[in-house]
Amino acid sequence: MAFSVTAKAPSSTANLGPGFDVFGLALDAFFDEITLTKKKHGIKIITSDLVPTDPKKNTAGLVALHMIKKFKIKGGIEIKIRKGVPAGFGMGSSAASAAATAVAFNHLFRLNLDANTLVECAGVGEMASAGSIHYDNVSASVLGGFVIVRTNPLDVIKIEPPSDLRLCVAVPKLDVPPKKTEVSRSVLPRKITLADSVVNLSNAAAIVAGFVQKDSNLIGTSIRDVIVEPARQHLIPGFSAVKKNALRAGALGVTISGAGPSVIAFATKKSDMQKIAKSMKRGFASARTDCTVLICKPSNGAKARRTT
Ligand code: HSE
Repeated sequence: MAFSVTAKAPSSTANLGPGFDVFGLALDAFFDEITLTKKKHGIKIITSDLVPTDPKKNTAGLVALHMIKKFKIKGGIEIKIRKGVPAGFGMGSSAASAAATAVAFNHLFRLNLDANTLVECAGVGEMASAGSIHYDNVSASVLGGFVIVRTNPLDVIKIEPPSDLRLCVAVPKLDVPPKKTEVSRSVLPRKITLADSVVNLSNAAAIVAGFVQKDSNLIGTSIRDVIVEPARQHLIPGFSAVKKNALRAGALGVTISGAGPSVIAFATKKSDMQKIAKSMKRGFASARTDCTVLICKPSNGAKARRTT
C-alpha cells in the first residue's frame, strides 16, 4: 500500500487589530485535513469541497509544487483535501490547507524542516487566494499559539497564549467575492500618519507584553487599530453595531478577524461568552445579516500522522 500522511491544521485569526501582517493566533474553531500519498508522477487533487482542483490554482497544490521543486523530490503526489475552515471569512482557511500540506509533506518525505522553512513553504499557498504572500495566518496554523512574523529574512516568533484567553468569532453569512483578501487589501491606505503609527505600535507592543506576561486583560484591551480597521469596516455590514454590542456585553476588545468579514471579540474565561455571542449576533441582525458565532480558544499547531 502507498505511504500516506495526514495533517490537521487549525483556523487562525490574523492582525489582532494593530499587528497587520505581523500577528497571528491559531484558533480551535475549525480544522482542515490534508492527506498526501506518494505517486509515480504528477500532482492530483481529490476533494469534495468547493476548491479548485488545478494544482496551480489550489493552495495545497501550490505548496506541494513549491516543495517538490525546492527539495528536488522525484515522483508525484496525490493530495486529498477535507476543508473544515470556511473559505473567505477571515479565519485563515487557505492558510490551514497550506500549513497542513507543508507539515504533511515534511513528514512524508522525512525532510526534518525547521519552523521558519515550514512557514516559508506554507506561505506560497497564500498566492492562490490573496494574490500576494503574507505569513501571519500560516505561521499561526503551522506553529499554533500566538505568533509574530518578521520578514526579510523570514523569522517567526511563537509565544504560548495565556490559558484563560477566550475568543468569540462571528462569521456573517455573506457572499464573499472570489479573491476576497486581495479585494480587502486593495482598500488599505498606502500612506499613514506618524500619529496613527504611534497608536498602533503602542498597542501592538502591549499585545506582545500581554502574551509574554500571560495577561489576557492586557491583550484584550490593546486590540485597538486606527489604521486597517477604519479602512475596511465599510466592507462588513453592521460592523460598528457588532463591535459596540460585544464591548457592552463585556468583551475586552473587538476587531476584524484577518481580512474579514468575520469579527472577533477578545475576552477571558471569566467573561460571559454566551452574552457576548448573542450581542454580536444582534449586531449583525441590525444590518439584516445572519451569522454563526463560535466561542473558541487558542489552538496548537498543525500535526501530522502516518495514515497508511
Ligand atoms: N494580514 C492579512 C490581511 C490576513 O489582513 O490582509 C489575511 O488573511
